[in-house]
This record gives sequence, structure tokens and C-alpha cells, in this order.
Amino acid sequence: MTDRFSNSRRLFERAQRSIAGGVNSGIRKMEQPVPLYFTHGQGCRLFDVDGHEYIDFQIGQGAILYGHAPAGQAEVIGAQAKLGIHWAAQSELEIEVAERLQRMIPSAERVRCNNSATEVVLSALRLARAHTGRRLVLKFEGHYHGWADEGLVGFAPPPDKWGTEEEPTRLHPSKGVIPEVLDQFVVARWNDPDHLRRRVDQYRGQIAAIIFEPVLCNTGCMEPVAGMISTIRELCDRDGMLMIADETITGFRFGAGGAQKHFGFVPDLTILGKAIGGGVPFAALVGKESAMQKIISGEIVHAGTLNANPLCLAAAKWCLDEVESLGDKHPAGMIALGQRLMAELSALAKRHNIPLQPQGPGLVFHTAMLKPGAATGPIRNYRDYVQRQDVLRWAHLRRCLLEDGVRAIERGLWFISLAHREADITEALQKANIAFTRHAQEWKTI
Ligand SMILES: Cc1ncc(COP(=O)(O)O)c(C=O)c1O
Repeated sequence: MTDRFSNSRRLFERAQRSIAGGVNSGIRKMEQPVPLYFTHGQGCRLFDVDGHEYIDFQIGQGAILYGHAPAGQAEVIGAQAKLGIHWAAQSELEIEVAERLQRMIPSAERVRCNNSATEVVLSALRLARAHTGRRLVLKFEGHYHGWADEGLVGFAPPPDKWGTEEEPTRLHPSKGVIPEVLDQFVVARWNDPDHLRRRVDQYRGQIAAIIFEPVLCNTGCMEPVAGMISTIRELCDRDGMLMIADETITGFRFGAGGAQKHFGFVPDLTILGKAIGGGVPFAALVGKESAMQKIISGEIVHAGTLNANPLCLAAAKWCLDEVESLGDKHPAGMIALGQRLMAELSALAKRHNIPLQPQGPGLVFHTAMLKPGAATGPIRNYRDYVQRQDVLRWAHLRRCLLEDGVRAIERGLWFISLAHREADITEALQKANIAFTRHAQEWKTI
């Protein structure tokens, strides 16, 4: 049998002789049968080194909201590169970007830039502790806030170690983490406002902030249940904690004002990443002036050699202008495309007797592959997800999809971009039909 990924396989073998582990972000190793190597992308299409074309729903882990190589972005990046890419100093561009953020996001009274959302999370948590004089941060099981020691507590605990329903344990999936970091967190289950109240009351007066993904996109795809976000806001107001919305994924994807405008809440601090830079390393902390005081006064250290470099600022300004120019058309167009894809994938799965259950708001969604005998219906939190998701079966279907030219994220998430059109969705569904047929036949024999 010919190997359809032979060039990727050769490059991966070569990479392992120079790059530690062969990849530069651990998660990329999840791609089966081999991490793919790409030559170029255009719109929602990606092209690999073996000459295959993919309809891309991974879309740079959500960063390239505008599609691959969008018209105009290369020109502004190129023009800025000719003027200089890094001055470690001020430029009018940084004010232009900050002013756009103020205009687009109501809670963005002040802005500070970094190069990745992981760094912004660290900045926000430090700021919250300094602001309140308290030590603890409450976060939710399954929510991802970057790969640092502080971002991953309670992210993916195995069932035998995750503790009781009332007292989720504070675990970090990585070795080498400073052990004391775990003690700085309180972990709660997502989508249970009453449980959240009890968790906050247990540590009342000691919690500096509650950090959360407004739509949980890093474990399945779970929108907040009614009362979830309003309870976070209410408890933060009651106890003087900062509400930190991690909009790394939802920012700009849910429209110019992000999930906070879409769902109608006002956080104290917001983490912005991914789509703010459209693929360049750019991220920002934005928030109320009152919450940013300790940065304004210089009492907390916030720094970075490459912060707000003109190259990334030029790219970010282009991205923000793109989003603003869409007005009310965004995110309605992406929601409609995504919901169509979800509905038709679901129908296709039924036809092939595959227990696939798409879930999410459309512009991002997750395809849960239910274990034999697992209940159907919405997945509400991390534990529910782990108990119902058939990881191996999804990996097989994902591989079939990839081989037929449809690229979803390894863990089952799908991003719609501004470059996807109805015709791309139609074609993706035709390819999915072929992939589902093959999966249904092969899975029986595994
Ligand atoms: C919600 C959320 N927060 C933070 C991060 C960290 O972003 P970065 O990889 O840019 O550091 C991610 C990355 O996927 C994310 O999804």
C-alpha cells in the first residue's frame, strides 16, 4: 500500500534529529498517522508536502479567523517590515491598536500588549493578586489558560485523581511544575452555578479572581448554561474579586466585542490572543482602568522585549479593521455556516450509524464521539465529557476525514473562518460522506 503521507513522514523523521520531540508545540504530535508538513495555504485551504489539499477547520488553532494568506495582510506586514520590525520603543501604531480595542470592546478601558495569550494570563493573574492583596485564583475544570504553571491547573485531571464533585483536585498535567503553584488555585466544575457559589463561599475573602473561557472550547465545546456567567459577575462584585474572561478563542470570533458583547457581560479583565494577530505572535490584556491600576502605577512588573513590536502591531491593526468593517454581518455569517455544517454532519453520522454528536454555537463546535451506551444530549462539563467521549473512535474518524481532505482539530474541535463559503461547506460534507463510509466499515473490524 502506498503511503499518502510519505513526504511528511520523511520530514518528521528528519525533524526528530534536530527538534526536541520533532515538533514545536507538544499537541501537534497528536496528528495521526503523522504530524503533517504544509507548503502553503489560501483562504480555507491548506496544501501539504505530499500534494494534498485540505479544507481547513483547524485554521491555525483558531488564530487565522481571516483564512490563510488573506488579501491585504501580507502587504501591511511587508510594508512595516521595510520600515523596521522591532524598536523596543513606542510607535503611533500601538496607540492606534489600543484605540481600536477601546472602540470595539466596551470593557477595554486600558490595554497592555504581550506576544502570547499564555503571557497575558500570567500578567492578569499577577495583576489580580496585587489588586486584591489575595492569593487564590478560582478556575474551572477543563478550561485552558495557556501552558504555563498557572494556566493549566485543573485542566485535564484523570478520573481516578479528579476528586469529588464538590472538591475537584488541583492537578497540573505537566511534570516540573513548582508544587506550591497548585495551592494558589481553587478548582470548580463548569456550568454549575450553585456549586460555584459553594466553592467561593468555602474560600470567601481569599480569592483574587475567577478566570474562565466564556465558551469552553478547550474541552469539547460548551456554552455557559443560563446563570453561569451572571453568577460569576455577581460573586465577583459581592466579594471584590476580579472577573477575568479568557477570550483568546472567542475574542473577535464572536464579533468585534467578543463573547462579552455577544452574551452581554462586562468582565474586569480580558485575555485576547489568536485572532487579534491573525497568526502573528500578538496578544493583549485589556480591562477596566480601575482593574489595571497596579500596572498603571508600575507596582507590578509587566514587561517584554518584543511587546508591541511594530510588525505585529501592523498585522493586528489590519485584523481589527477587518473585523470592524464587517459590522453586524459578523458573526452571523459564520454562525450560519457552522450550524449548517453541524446539522449535516449530524445527519450524515446518523445515516452511517456513527454516534457523533456536534455541539457548540456553530462558528466553533466540537464533534463528540459517544462511547457505546453513553447518553446522548448536551455535554455540560469536563467530567461529563471524559465519561462520554470515545477518544479512540474519534481519532479514527478524524484520520479518515484527513485522508479525504477535511482537517478538523485533533481533539474534535472545528473552527469556521471568514474565508469559508457555502461551497466549501458543501464540498466538506461530500468528503465527510466518503470518510464516514470508510470509518463505518473499518471501525467494525477494529
Ligand atoms: C482560552 C485560551 N487561553 C490561553 C491560550 C494560550 O494561548 P497561546 O497559545 O497564544 O499562549 C489558549 C490557547 O489555545 C486558549 O485557548
